[in-house]
Amino acid sequence: MSTLPVRPGLEGAAPYGAPELDVPVRLNVNENPYAPSPAVVDSIARAVAGAAGRLNRYPERDFPALRRALADYLAVESGVRLSPERVWAANGSNEVMLQVLQAFGGPGRACLSFTPTYSMYPEYARDTLTRYVTRARAEDFTLDIAAVREALEDVRPAVLILASPNNPTGTALPLEDVRAVLEIARGGGPLIRNGGSAGPSDAVVVVDEAYGEFRRPGVPSALELLIEDDGGRYPHLVVSRTMSKAFGMAGLRLGYLAASRELVGLLRVVRLPYHLSATTQAAALAALGHREELMSQVASLRSERDALVAWLRERGLTAYDSDSNFVLFGPFQDRRAIFEALLERGVLIRVVGPAGYLRVCVGTPDEMDAFRAALVDVLASRPDRPDGEEKEEST
Ligand SMILES: Cc1ncc(COP(=O)(O)O)c(C=O)c1O
Repeated sequence: MSTLPVRPGLEGAAPYGAPELDVPVRLNVNENPYAPSPAVVDSIARAVAGAAGRLNRYPERDFPALRRALADYLAVESGVRLSPERVWAANGSNEVMLQVLQAFGGPGRACLSFTPTYSMYPEYARDTLTRYVTRARAEDFTLDIAAVREALEDVRPAVLILASPNNPTGTALPLEDVRAVLEIARGGGPLIRNGGSAGPSDAVVVVDEAYGEFRRPGVPSALELLIEDDGGRYPHLVVSRTMSKAFGMAGLRLGYLAASRELVGLLRVVRLPYHLSATTQAAALAALGHREELMSQVASLRSERDALVAWLRERGLTAYDSDSNFVLFGPFQDRRAIFEALLERGVLIRVVGPAGYLRVCVGTPDEMDAFRAALVDVLASRPDRPDGEEKEEST
């Protein structure tokens, strides 16, 4: 029996994370399967060596050079040119979103999201003493705008998080829907004191585009909604991105967001001083210098993904269209049995999402061959018994 004064709400809680198993084919945490090339490794090593010689000093607190490089990258990737002051970064987009909750959530405040979705959102809420409220996505995993309106009226959240493309379904939201949500969110936040009287605030809408670069051609980024008059139109919009996925830098821990200057200014209040180490800043800047090479695998990962969707459908399975680097497929009466049978064959995927479904991340062509061969073998031996207990892991 512990005598430690654990904070109410944390009793018995387990640390978040998928199993870290050493198996030949790991397709469970939506990583990029391509390791950085020797040229990228060399640039990063030289940049980190340069930073190491100055490690007696604290790093730049507001890292202007990195914000400029990220703004340049967004301009190339999405055609949206933002001033560096509208870009902010932290150790993974997880930390970026935690900072959003630190600035806008808190006791008496709510964070709203639409499920199935990324299972870290409730953790950001828990860690900032924010109430986490969910509503269901539509059957095709997009949003029912009438339901969003109703939920906002009901909950008056300080923060609404929408993953697009969504994890674990791969669904990207149409830009008109994001725009509609932003309009509904105007005045849809908690009551705040403004001068002498209390009035409604605008709920902050976070569009989590961790998988944004994998979107199919013609699918726009919510960044486009940020261009209009330098943040004046949607000061309550945040678009969150990461170098962990398309960029192939999950180990770097560099996530970032774009928003209005006012909103970024509020994040600077809650960030820990010097939260982004000098070595992280140096490595991220060096990696961004190789953006073309690092992004060159995105096209092949996209076509591998589309081929995988088609292949799964040919096998009579449901596979959802995906704008990300993973595919949700099923249904299985006993998805855990399928998961375990694949694992026995050296292929690790994820039990997550709607009952009966599994999520597989797109790997190299060899890894996908191994996944396909293992699944064919597993389905031929039918471990898909109806007696399995439904148990979901975190996304
Ligand atoms: C939807 C979504 N958002 C954010 C993240 C966090 O990414 P990171 O903290 O590596 O930037 C993930 C990681 O899997 C994710 O699936």
